[in-house]
Amino acid sequence: MNILKIDSSISGEHSVSRRLTSEIERQFGGADVTRDLVADPLPHLTARGQDPEILEEFLAADMIIIGAPMYNFTIPTQLKAWLDRLAVAGRTFEYTAEGPRGLAGDKRVVIALASGGVYEDDSPFEHSKSYLTAFFNFIGIQPEFVSASGVAVSPEAAADAIDSANETIERLAA
Ligand SMILES: Cc1cc2nc3c(=O)[nH]c(=O)nc-3n(C[C@H](O)[C@H](O)[C@H](O)COP(=O)(O)O)c2cc1C
Repeated sequence: MNILKIDSSISGEHSVSRRLTSEIERQFGGADVTRDLVADPLPHLTARGQDPEILEEFLAADMIIIGAPMYNFTIPTQLKAWLDRLAVAGRTFEYTAEGPRGLAGDKRVVIALASGGVYEDDSPFEHSKSYLTAFFNFIGIQPEFVSASGVAVSPEAAADAIDSANETIERLAA
C-alpha cells in the first residue's frame, strides 16, 4: 500500500494535527511520501498553475493521511493550495450528462482535524470538515475523519480530545 502523508499545521512540535497524522501513519505502517506544506509551501493557484507532480503523487497513493488544523473556521491556506492541484477534469472528476462524477474512488483518505473550539457539523462557523467532505466526495472519495476538537478549552479538554482521537485511529486501523 502506497501511503502519502500531508501536514499543514503552522504549530510545529506543538501541533495537535501533526501528532495525530504521525499516529495514523504509525498504525497504518509508515508513509512512502511525506509532504509538509508549511516547510515546503505551494504557491497560490494561477491560471498557468498546473502542478503535475502533486497530482501524480496523489494519484499514485492508495491511502492519503491529511492533517487539517482549523484556522479561522476553515483549513489552512497551505492545504487549500494543495487541494487546488487535485481537482483536475479528466483525472479526478468528469462532467457527464448526469452531472459530475468522481474518478478517484480507489483511495482511502483519513483526515486528522484539530480545532480549539467545538463545532456541530451544521454550525455556520464550521468550514473544515464540511468543505473537505464535499471536496473529496466530488472526486469520488468518502473521507474518514479523526477529530480532536476543543483543544483550547482547557488542558483537560485537550487531553480528552486527543485520547478520543487516538481511539478513533485504533478503530480505523483495526
Ligand atoms: C491562526 C490560528 C487560527 C485559529 N482559528 C481557530 C478557529 O477559527 N476555530 C477554532 O476552533 N480554533 C482555532 N484555532 C485553534 C486551532 O484550531 C488549534 O490550536 C488546533 O490545535 C490547530 O491544529 P494544530 O495544533 O495542528 O496547528 C486557531 C489557531 C491558530 C494558530
